[in-house]
Amino acid sequence: MNTQIIKIDKDNIDKEKINKAGTIIRDGGLVAFPTETVYGLGANALCESAVKSTFIAKGRPSDNPLIIHITDKNDILKIAREFPPMAKKLVDAFSPGAFTIILKKQYNIPECVTAGLDTVAIRIPSNPVARELITAAGVPISAPSANVSGKPSPTEAKHVIADMDGRIDCIIDGGSCDVGIESTVVDATGEYPIILRPGGVTFDDIKKICPDVRIDRHIIDSVTVTDTPRSPGMKYKHYSPDADVVVVEGELDNVYRKILSLIEENKNTGKKIGVMTMTNNTYDADCILNVGTSNKDYAKNLFAKLREFDDNKIDIVFAEFCDLDDYGLSVKNRLYKSAGNKVIHV
Ligand code: TXA
Ligand code: MG
Repeated sequence: MNTQIIKIDKDNIDKEKINKAGTIIRDGGLVAFPTETVYGLGANALCESAVKSTFIAKGRPSDNPLIIHITDKNDILKIAREFPPMAKKLVDAFSPGAFTIILKKQYNIPECVTAGLDTVAIRIPSNPVARELITAAGVPISAPSANVSGKPSPTEAKHVIADMDGRIDCIIDGGSCDVGIESTVVDATGEYPIILRPGGVTFDDIKKICPDVRIDRHIIDSVTVTDTPRSPGMKYKHYSPDADVVVVEGELDNVYRKILSLIEENKNTGKKIGVMTMTNNTYDADCILNVGTSNKDYAKNLFAKLREFDDNKIDIVFAEFCDLDDYGLSVKNRLYKSAGNKVIHV
């Protein structure tokens, strides 16, 4: 398949180009597009064959449901059959934005979107290219992250091109994503909200709106908790670069000393060594990439840097991590998964 690549400036959207991409979606094709979190792989959410082709393009297991993207909260009851007051409060506070709400599904939503669940995930993105695309398509857009299943999510068009060129109809290059990690997924079908996936909206943000918010225990403890997570996607291998990743977590002085000794141990193994750093620490490594000092910056840069280590053919990455602010939980969740839970606490 020939994949068209269309460049669109989010501050000066070319209507003709966006209408062309919208038509591809409406007619059952696949279009990757930028959002404020990560790039999505869009399809007409009401067209079963289009949604099914999303799973094939990504190599995604069919029991992992997709998020439906719309532009207007007044359309929520077209997708969900209930919109309780607590959910409304959350949507009012965090949409448009990096926030996804789980509600009871409307009956016309194809089974393959929700992987047979009675609930549906809905998000209202704020990125103007994403919004204009949904409007141009004239249909709700189902979109998982536009990476091959298991790989780090794409935060720049070049990541999507690396994974999806030849597999989908069109890629919109709308620049890099601001948040860098995916939306926060919140189940609002019960008495109190439960965070199923931490993301661009933090626990602290949500707690200010709904003080009784809880965090699903699978989020961090995917090693010791072995029963089925409520968000199907949380059980799969995720965000894995080709390199092995080892997280070293704690006070940054201790982290530095530990990574120095790990490099020493690995020096004569013939492995190419990388370090992901939050500091200006220097190491005797083949590739040192800085993700920034705050956890918010870490979130923005994490996926792009994981891919950059692969571009540099690094075999093992030691990742500095210190939980510093309310983005810590979201970063930790992605980082631990990319490391297959190889975490050293110092
Ligand atoms: O920021 C984002 O959310 C991006 C952009 C493109 O919008 N999308 C994204 O989609 O991250 P995806 O498919 O990579 O992750 C969606 C997550 C998965 O963990 C999935 O299991 C969960 O949402 N999910 C979807 N529908 C659900 C449902 N009905 N109940 C529980 N979890 C659900
Ligand atoms: Mg994903």
